[in-house]
Amino acid sequence: MTKEKKTTGLAGGLTFQYENLFGEGRLTEAMMAELRPAMDAAAASMRRILETGFAKAHLSKDGTPEHVYFPRQAYLREGNPNEEASVSCLEAMGEAWRHHVDVAVFLGIGGSYLGDKVLFDLSTKPYWNQLPVSAREGRPQIYFAGNNVDGEATQGLLDMLTYQAREAGRPLRVMLVPISKSGTTMEPLSVFSAVLVYLRQHADLFRIDVTAVTGLDKDESLLYRLACENGWPALAIPEGIGGRYCILSNPGLLMGAVLGYDIRALLDGAREMVERCLSAAADDNPALLNAACKYLAAEKLGADVEVFMGYGDRLRSLGDWYVQLLSESLGKRRDREGRTVYYGRTPVVATGTTDMHSMTQQHQDGKRNKVIQFLEVTRPAVALPVANPFPQEPALDMYAGKEMDRLLKAALAANETALTGDHRCSARYILPSLEARYAGQLLMFLMLSVAYEGELADVDAFDQPGVEAYKKIMKADLAR
Ligand code: PA5
Repeated sequence: MTKEKKTTGLAGGLTFQYENLFGEGRLTEAMMAELRPAMDAAAASMRRILETGFAKAHLSKDGTPEHVYFPRQAYLREGNPNEEASVSCLEAMGEAWRHHVDVAVFLGIGGSYLGDKVLFDLSTKPYWNQLPVSAREGRPQIYFAGNNVDGEATQGLLDMLTYQAREAGRPLRVMLVPISKSGTTMEPLSVFSAVLVYLRQHADLFRIDVTAVTGLDKDESLLYRLACENGWPALAIPEGIGGRYCILSNPGLLMGAVLGYDIRALLDGAREMVERCLSAAADDNPALLNAACKYLAAEKLGADVEVFMGYGDRLRSLGDWYVQLLSESLGKRRDREGRTVYYGRTPVVATGTTDMHSMTQQHQDGKRNKVIQFLEVTRPAVALPVANPFPQEPALDMYAGKEMDRLLKAALAANETALTGDHRCSARYILPSLEARYAGQLLMFLMLSVAYEGELADVDAFDQPGVEAYKKIMKADLAR
């Protein structure tokens, strides 16, 4: 870590800059020093989680002790969430679908959707589904469904597939991928059922395959029972991997494999982050420092809102994924001693520069209750220069000859400088590029950050008891 500049990270990889969280009206060195014993304890707890697979007081929703294996996703080992055989199987599946599946429909919600959307955006070029199959190198179009229970959206998908099949003049080869750890969730199960019935009713237009991704327990998972009864291949969502932490195992990796993403490099990057965080001193551990800063900002400054602002369209889904990670992990009524604490902060997704024209006014002049968390990618995937087709308009000259990425970076720097000028809290994550290895570092960094913050706040970052309240009411209603 450069202590004066408050920068830490992996050499040549992810960087976390947090100097703008310190200074007038913001955090102080004394606050950090006071937290140091708790940070050391959090570091020890995380090492224990990796070694033993158990986190303090964590129970499943049935009240029995449940493993916490999310950091183990980074290690290909027998008995771990990913093994050499499971990753090879995903890669083989990706190749087998190539040129043989026209359309894959992924049906999941929450952690069984958000990670897939991230990996879809990381793996593909914009407008993927509109590209000709040659530009997709034989890989399928990808659609998402079942991440809401919306009749209009589902009917729209079915209509679109029908038009495509008619235009193709041959049966459209559709792979349905229902994803649900519990195997019983209302949205994916009901939409999957509706889609399957429709496609079967139009057997002249569609050739249907199904690959299920679920917990492999027949007593628990209805989806797994269906897979067994119908002879569908089923990939495991391993025990010890909660929905919001599953992006680096089968549910997320399948999407990467199908789209030809380097899933091994993704896991390499994640492993680099785990190893750094578990071996570094507390003041050089990127995820622990991130957790400590956000925890102190909440507790000492009342920063109960975190804006995750990625600069670039492809980073939007990452923000959506982070919203779930933060909300479900840290939004807790009670701490692990049973005391009422109402912990957590409200995550907000923003995209730069888009939301500088909507939210930035509020960030700059509204309540001083926010941390603006920027995400910057140093090397853009594409270097597109802006030209001035109207030389008679000198106002356009300032953009002409500059790459779009230069404009994006100028906007980020200006946003950050303006906030800091008013002593407002911001921090920056920087990735060298969106290559799989750096993406793996970032995903694991964010999961570890949230888990460390759970330790600092003494709340269970791996359960979500609050969602049971509405589920009970809804089930009683639907059972009538
Ligand atoms: O993080 C979680 O556990 C939840 O948000 C789940 O991902 C979500 O409810 C979907 O559950 P399931 O995968 O069991 O269908």
